[in-house]
Amino acid sequence: MSYNFDTVVDRRSTGSVKFDIRHDLLPLWVADMDFPLPDEILSVIKKRVDHGIFGYTMTGPSYWKALDSWCSREYGYNVKPSEWVTVPGVVYSLSIAIRAVTEPSDAVLIEQPVYYPFSQVVKDNGRNLIVAPLCFNKGRYTRDLYAFEKAIRENNVKAFILCSPHNPVGRVWSGDELLLVAEICRRYGVTVIADEIHCDFIRPGIKFTSFATLCDEYKEKLILCTAPSKTFNLAGLQVSNIWIPNPEIREKFKKENRANGYNEINTLGMTAAETCYTFGKPWLTELKAYLEGNIAYVRSFLSENMPKVNLVESEGTYLLWLDFHGTGLSNEEMKDKVENKAKLWLDHGDMFGQGGQLFERINIACPRSTLEQAMKQLYEAFK
Ligand SMILES: Cc1ncc(COP(=O)(O)O)c(C=O)c1O
Repeated sequence: MSYNFDTVVDRRSTGSVKFDIRHDLLPLWVADMDFPLPDEILSVIKKRVDHGIFGYTMTGPSYWKALDSWCSREYGYNVKPSEWVTVPGVVYSLSIAIRAVTEPSDAVLIEQPVYYPFSQVVKDNGRNLIVAPLCFNKGRYTRDLYAFEKAIRENNVKAFILCSPHNPVGRVWSGDELLLVAEICRRYGVTVIADEIHCDFIRPGIKFTSFATLCDEYKEKLILCTAPSKTFNLAGLQVSNIWIPNPEIREKFKKENRANGYNEINTLGMTAAETCYTFGKPWLTELKAYLEGNIAYVRSFLSENMPKVNLVESEGTYLLWLDFHGTGLSNEEMKDKVENKAKLWLDHGDMFGQGGQLFERINIACPRSTLEQAMKQLYEAFK
């Protein structure tokens, strides 16, 4: 390996959401990574810092060229800059999208368990939250299409927020699965808001299909949310790229964005995103190999030492979903052990809504030694 992912970098007292809220717990919760970017990328960002002037900033041709090269190579679609809007975050874009394509009290559908801001953002915008629960069968999550369609039909759903790949359950929805969803949404006039933020973390042997590569009729009512923030750990630099092929929906989205007073992109965020999309692939490739090692470590640790805790095999993301049903504990007992005995900050499954009880989500994007320490603490608490 040319890059070193084993070094533990002290992130405390850097204003880190992950590390600086509670110092008494080992944090493996929020989805950012404990790895610094490599020198070839940092040096470009430092050069921009050395320029010393950080005035209002806009994206230019080199930014869009970098994004286009990445998207065409990695996912098979091209980027027409006029169809894209840059915003400070994907959750921000979900909020703007909901306001752009629905009216107050309209129904918005999500699937649970899912990344918890999905439900918050629907409710905070005064929309009617409709949940279609995922099915969990023999260790694998699937979608009950009958229930999905029924939820849309009976509630007059106007928008569906798709999580693809799905956080926290780790499913990478196949092209066929997406087509079935797309067809139901088209039939009922539902706008698909597709959150593809985790799409660069796909496990070996699994194929990612972007909603953007489905046929044109499914792009009529599509808002595609992408970002370099998970891929290159840039959450603090606040850049997301949103594709809205339908000009009418795009204009409504832009209007809501303007109403929020957001205008220009973050200067360093733009530099970092462009640089990562241009030079970041070798680092990402090695990072993903390292993460594979972390997943293998958790799998074998659990089967050797904690066989009652089941690892739900993920197809993507660096977040693992651990099933504690076999422990015989109640949800509250499990949470108490994780937090107060193991002294770990994981994300308790019940935060992710229906079907999340007795699960914990663990973020494995950290040096192996941190993960080993975490698993040791978990073992001691549950033995
Ligand atoms: C599915 C999903 N969407 C969005 C986000 C956050 O995106 P942003 O920081 O750009 O709002 C996360 C972060 O964990 C996520 O898992």
